[in-house]
Amino acid sequence: MIVLGIETSCDECSASLVEDGHTILSNIIATQIELHKPYEGVVPELASRLHTEWISQVVQSALDKANLTVNDIDAVAVTSRPGLLGSLLVGVSFAKGFAASLNLPFITIDHIRAHLYASQIEHPLEYPYLGVLVSGGHTVICRVDDYDTIEVLGTTIDDAIGEAFDKVAKHYGFGYPGGVAIDRLARTGNPVAFLFPGPKLNVMDHPYDISYSGLKTAVINQLDSFWDGESEKSPENIAASFQRAAVNMLMKRVRQALKETGLKRLSAGGGVAANSYLRSELLSLQEGGYGVSFPSLKLCTDNGAMIAALAYRYLQDGILSDFSEAPHARVTA
Ligand code: KG4
Ligand code: ZN
Repeated sequence: MIVLGIETSCDECSASLVEDGHTILSNIIATQIELHKPYEGVVPELASRLHTEWISQVVQSALDKANLTVNDIDAVAVTSRPGLLGSLLVGVSFAKGFAASLNLPFITIDHIRAHLYASQIEHPLEYPYLGVLVSGGHTVICRVDDYDTIEVLGTTIDDAIGEAFDKVAKHYGFGYPGGVAIDRLARTGNPVAFLFPGPKLNVMDHPYDISYSGLKTAVINQLDSFWDGESEKSPENIAASFQRAAVNMLMKRVRQALKETGLKRLSAGGGVAANSYLRSELLSLQEGGYGVSFPSLKLCTDNGAMIAALAYRYLQDGILSDFSEAPHARVTA
């Protein structure tokens, strides 16, 4: 069974064809990054306009790459929540028209569940597991009981981890999104040159919640001191110390969640799961006997393959969506 997966929730316009939920026949990701760069962030109005211009060609490219025609497609899936509403509307409307004209089953997909499912495509992991979603829009620690059943244990109360990387990177003048540039710069820095303090949160009520806004501000202040000649800490050392602090804050909660839930496996997803230090810290959990899985770099950031692969599971269970379904900007149940 071949599923077409469409993803337009933010600034990537992506279409993918996946066979039987695991074989990726094509995964076209047309990124708008260069066009948003002058504005140092994603401009929602521009994003939806570009999706409208590109979506048809992106789907055609996915078919060409897989050597298929529309008649080979068995179902159409699309991200419908959460995300930028205008961008979601383009993907959802396109997918509905596509499915209706070919009389194909139609499935709407939750972006968060898709990121948490992405590692299953290449490295299947037995349920239940601890899900760690780290992206530009989300920082979520959750219990994942199956492809659809998720219990959120903790989230960020302010900036997402990727947002903190991007805002620090912007201060370095790296442009948007700058997470990968910080990752690269940190490799030549000393991660313990500067010890940034952790957040002060109400750990009694929400032990797995996290906050990145204080860390981000402390790092930006430290960089300013360097530019002003008041600090000897080099930009490389500040980047490495920031990355260590950001990841360690997350890992502390991840370790605690593994201990307290008794879960023996963990899967990470989202753009920041591409971070080299986070990946090595997650892998080190294997020494404690935990199963650890994360997607290959291409499946960490937004992509249509995770949408098509997850949709296959709903299809197998006969769970389809209705053409009257509308996209949602915010997280729904
Ligand atoms: O999952 P994604 O493509 O989009 C959202 O759903 O947000 O994640 C994008 C985020 C950006 O904040 C980007 O800077 C970050 O992932 N990112 C990284 C790395 N690669 C991407 N952050 C840190 N280290 C990286 N290597
Ligand atoms: Zn995402």
